[in-house]
Amino acid sequence: MDTLTAIHTRCSIGKVKPDPLPRDLIEKLLAAGAQAPNHHAVRPWRFIVLTGAGRERLGGAMAQELHERKPDTPAEGLQAERAKALRAPVLIAVAADKPAEAKVVEIENVCAAAAAAQNILLAAHALGLGAIWRTGPAATAAVVKHSLGLTPDQHLLGFIYVGYPLAEPAVPQRPNFADRTTWLE
Ligand SMILES: Cc1cc2nc3c(=O)[nH]c(=O)nc-3n(C[C@H](O)[C@H](O)[C@H](O)COP(=O)(O)O)c2cc1C
Repeated sequence: MDTLTAIHTRCSIGKVKPDPLPRDLIEKLLAAGAQAPNHHAVRPWRFIVLTGAGRERLGGAMAQELHERKPDTPAEGLQAERAKALRAPVLIAVAADKPAEAKVVEIENVCAAAAAAQNILLAAHALGLGAIWRTGPAATAAVVKHSLGLTPDQHLLGFIYVGYPLAEPAVPQRPNFADRTTWLE
């Protein structure tokens, strides 16, 4: 699939089969992520790949976050939160490092990691996989970052849920660029 076709036909797919993905396929996604542009060659992205019981541990941290934020949440609500991490066989958490040198700009690190996330989404699409980028309160919670081995000053940009799509995705119909573009000539 050529690049423009991938960009224009990609759409987020939330419903995927529970079947595991072979590791080499997951590594193709990570390799695409690592091709993103970044300033000062700091490669600020971090990928944490969650499969199997790794997703269950994340689900536990997400439920703990919900319990801390809303202590009255009933057991069923916490269970539903825990189950969110099981919506796909593979989750790739994408994070960005805080700069370690004065010349490195924090938002640029976040931009680079976001570009890596988009590369992963496009690669997943080109490989016939279904993927969606999700965040929610979990993405900023200290307990969730800790469960992923991240430090509080690293930014968790979200989770890319990936699997084999359950159904053939529709071609997306999105607004074009005109109302978001100014030409200065
Ligand atoms: C940073 C970021 C966070 C997002 N978080 C969520 C989320 O938590 N839940 C969700 O349903 N969609 C979320 N989305 C939106 C979807 O990933 C997706 O882009 C949106 O549903 C539009 O579909 P499309 O990608 O096919 O255009 C997020 C997107 C971005 C870029």
